[in-house]
Amino acid sequence: MISKPRGTRDFTPEEMKKRRWLERKMRGVFERYGYEEIATPTIEHLELFTLKSGEGIIEETYAFEDKAGRKLALRPELTAPVMRFYVERFQMEAKPLKFYYFGNCFRYDRPQKGRYREFWQFGCELIGSDKPEAIAELISLAYNILRESGLRNVIVRVGNLDILRKFLDSIGARDAEIMRLIDKKDFEELQKRMGSEEFKKFEEFIGVKNIDEIEYEEAERMKEVFDFLEEFGIPYNLDLSIARGLDYYIGIVFEIDAPRLGAEKQLCGGGEYNLVPLLGGRKVATAGFAIGFDRTLLALEIEGAEFGEEEKPVYVAYMEGMIKEAIKIVKMLRQQGIKAEMDLMRRSISKSLDYANKKGIEKVIIVAPDEWKENMVIIKDMKSGEQKKIAIGEITKEIHS
Ligand code: HAM
Repeated sequence: MISKPRGTRDFTPEEMKKRRWLERKMRGVFERYGYEEIATPTIEHLELFTLKSGEGIIEETYAFEDKAGRKLALRPELTAPVMRFYVERFQMEAKPLKFYYFGNCFRYDRPQKGRYREFWQFGCELIGSDKPEAIAELISLAYNILRESGLRNVIVRVGNLDILRKFLDSIGARDAEIMRLIDKKDFEELQKRMGSEEFKKFEEFIGVKNIDEIEYEEAERMKEVFDFLEEFGIPYNLDLSIARGLDYYIGIVFEIDAPRLGAEKQLCGGGEYNLVPLLGGRKVATAGFAIGFDRTLLALEIEGAEFGEEEKPVYVAYMEGMIKEAIKIVKMLRQQGIKAEMDLMRRSISKSLDYANKKGIEKVIIVAPDEWKENMVIIKDMKSGEQKKIAIGEITKEIHS
């Protein structure tokens, strides 16, 4: 037996129905905010991700050489690919550009509940505006996608890397390792690295809940963003301890959690970043976020959410010798937009009815020779058990009733 690679998953029909349902929901919200879908390859040049994604991501990247010796990688995220695409194709377009995407990502992580080696992200990138209302609308979009998916408990935290970095400079404790430890919330290690005096100041700093208490210049812009967030009706929390795991972030950053998910509770992460100049493009404001699709599903399941009623097919059974007539019926139903299945096992009528019962099918059409001569079929309602003859021309109306 060959099993699937560690950290990957197969999806059953039931799971795929839920996933497609959630995908439609999320896509609908992006579209309503005027975002347009784009797609990029699953593999990229490794260099795209080593440019500025940070140590963490590089360690986690699935990298390999192709047959010509090119260094390639399975994408660990989609922001760098989208920026590559932007620099290649869209620099001249009218701003702002609003792109969204849905795709699989790969990270060589330690798998656990909510953390996989192959997972899916729904995300977007806003290119061309760094106005406070643009950032507020972006956060509002992320929040509304999660809420409209049906989640009741989500917490939005907004931070600022310029403020955090300035503070760390002021206590002489700014380096990549410290940023990584802040992102991992490894306070024990942080205390060791910073020294207890500095760590105390740090604790005080990240305990600030009101932006008015911050005196750095960037606090003014944060206040404007918060003001617009209130206008959009989005509940938020100031969290100056957000460090983000990727190195390309600058300025305002945010995360959204589902507190009930436990260790892997972060559903969404994003913020302002700087990648375009590194990729050879002209300087432009960029911000975005990505929602962990798999974690959002887990959070919905924990909350006992409804995933929308599934449409059951009409099942067409037939008596011996009536196979072509059954095909005519199933073909007609499908042409009329009705989800229909016919018996493909050459079962008897009673066996077909057993099968329909097991599958939770509600309506069965029985094609029988006597009725066929009168241009009629039998339709059976599996819930009530009621069975009647109807004209072929009336089937659609009957099914919709
Ligand atoms: P990220 O925070 O690395 O950001 O990932 C975004 C989300 O993807 C996380 O909040 C989490 O829900 C989900 N996620 C990450 N790793 C895994 C995993 N191993 N298994 C399951 N879900 C996972 C980014 O990737 C940025 N590109 C977001 C962004 C877009 N920033 C600006 N634009």
